[in-house]
Amino acid sequence: MLKTRLTELLGIKYPLIQAGMGPFSTNMLCAASANAGALGLISTSGIASQLIAPDMYRIFMESTPGAKEAKTPIDVYKLVYRATLERTKEAKGIFGSNIMVSEELRGMAVKLIEALKEVREESEEMRERGKLIVTSAGDPIKMTNLLKDSGMLWGHVVPSVKHATRAVKAGVDFLVVSGQEGGFHGPWEPISTMTLLPAVCEEFPDTVVVGTGGFCDGRSVAAGLVLGADGVQMGTRFLATKDCEFADSWKEKVVEIGDRGTIRARGIVGPARYLKTPVSQDMCAETVKFAPGTFTGVPDTMTSIPAKILMAEMKGFAATFEGDETKSLYTGGECAQRITDIPTAADLVERIMEETVEALKGLRERYQV
Ligand SMILES: Cc1cc2nc3c(=O)[nH]c(=O)nc-3n(C[C@H](O)[C@H](O)[C@H](O)COP(=O)(O)O)c2cc1C
Repeated sequence: MLKTRLTELLGIKYPLIQAGMGPFSTNMLCAASANAGALGLISTSGIASQLIAPDMYRIFMESTPGAKEAKTPIDVYKLVYRATLERTKEAKGIFGSNIMVSEELRGMAVKLIEALKEVREESEEMRERGKLIVTSAGDPIKMTNLLKDSGMLWGHVVPSVKHATRAVKAGVDFLVVSGQEGGFHGPWEPISTMTLLPAVCEEFPDTVVVGTGGFCDGRSVAAGLVLGADGVQMGTRFLATKDCEFADSWKEKVVEIGDRGTIRARGIVGPARYLKTPVSQDMCAETVKFAPGTFTGVPDTMTSIPAKILMAEMKGFAATFEGDETKSLYTGGECAQRITDIPTAADLVERIMEETVEALKGLRERYQV
């Protein structure tokens, strides 16, 4: 048992969030994480990928009863919610969605949120357990009107104190503070969790804060709590679980990668962190040449850099499904170097929470305070 402002706000057993990880489905991972007592998040960034990435879309369809007959991705999304409610019924798991709201994805984000409002009208149980969304990668203030009267709890991912200030102004219920060591999407001006998390906690003592980026075990969760967080979100750690729908080679690569195992390069929606392989190293070299803003901290746009850089990401992801390791591109966070196994989400959550309590109790003994 570990009670924090986050567990109280969301009604979850443990102060732990399984991160949204697109563009793939995390439908099954979400249900397994929610059943284990964490908050499970459904990823939505690939839900409209039918034309550009059929393999990614296929996974949404395969894990969702009735999806093959659905007419639109929005209908599939509603079915995903109904299926998640069923999958988490016994344990009364709490779940939500990660929805990216960057400019190029905002139109889709609005449609997804409208669909969510409709689905939540269907039952008290859906409102009670499918209770929140975590937005990311865009201006939260543009979402305020849509979200503040929606009845859902709302978290937003922020990479700086400035962004946190804007999210608080937008009216979020909690902040997800994202350090640059995290997997995949990162900020133009990167700050590490060690500096950013306490800075945001100090600036907003009355707001519930979740740390993310670099957390993968009980010691790191305990450190996050000591830094002032009310809970922790993990991406790369949950990716390497049996319940995650990502390709097996991806999970194995997380476990395999060691010291100095990640690299930054331009991704579709901005800078991104990849597991270091010849493919991601090539992408980094292209980024230096054609999209240097990733390293100089000056944002470029999708139209100001060559399309081949943007397409490389989708091609690399598709190769993970085709089983071609020489072309596969894997995203992941720095903490991959500390991940050594692929457990079930249930075993992982139990283990991490036991370790967290041990680590917190051990502090007093170890340092004789
Ligand atoms: C494979 C992968 C895919 C991700 N996709 C998304 C996404 O679609 N939306 C988002 O907001 N964050 C995304 N993230 C970031 C995670 O939500 C989370 O913030 C990050 O993984 C935390 O750092 P960690 O990997 O060190 O735990 C992704 C991360 C990974 C590893």
